[in-house]
Amino acid sequence: MNKDIIWHHHKVSRADRAGSKNQKPCLLWFTGLSGSGKSTIANALDVALHERGYHTFLLDGDNVRHGLCSDLGFSDDDRVENIRRIGEVSKLFTDAGLIVISAFISPFTGDRRMVRKLFPAGEFIEIFMDTPINTCEERDPKGLYEKARQGVIKNFTGIDSPYQAPERPEIRLDSSSMSVDHCVDVIIEYLVRRELIS
Ligand code: PPS
Repeated sequence: MNKDIIWHHHKVSRADRAGSKNQKPCLLWFTGLSGSGKSTIANALDVALHERGYHTFLLDGDNVRHGLCSDLGFSDDDRVENIRRIGEVSKLFTDAGLIVISAFISPFTGDRRMVRKLFPAGEFIEIFMDTPINTCEERDPKGLYEKARQGVIKNFTGIDSPYQAPERPEIRLDSSSMSVDHCVDVIIEYLVRRELIS
């Protein structure tokens, strides 16, 4: 970091911005295999919080890769950079007082830890979509597992690229045995218990 670049402290704090919405800023970080239900649950949660009047923002893997990260592929180095950028963007949104929901495979433990470290204790909430890979592969909503098995797509997570499962996520969900509504309820109950929402 260039020493001539100096951090500016804003007069309106993140707590001021969040307080006007009766919420505390936090990052709900979904991680899991392709087809594990990250986007589905993240979207349903976004709707549920929005309908309750909370100010949220949803960052989703495929969408972010259309813009901010359109120069990145799926090599290990590119995934690291993808998650680094998303962590920094999420931090900006929480500084704006928002409840941020992010849904990225984020396969590497070290990268998720790096993002966690950007946030004050308790503000990074890891939600592990612990859906068995055979269910994800059966669903194969985009036909990507089939292409990966055929070798048409290389470095596909869970096939020829690793997924390092979280050991102690704040929340663990399995969309093969839990309904979408149940998953959302579990997360909302967690947020209320932690007094991030009321
Ligand atoms: S990562 O690992 O966190 O950087 O990945 P992410 O940004 O979440 O992007 C995952 C989506 O990209 C599609 N896709 C692939 N995923 C994994 N491996 C490979 N090789 C790949 N190629 C394309 C896929 O649709 C992922 O979306 P989801 O919603 O997870 O199915």
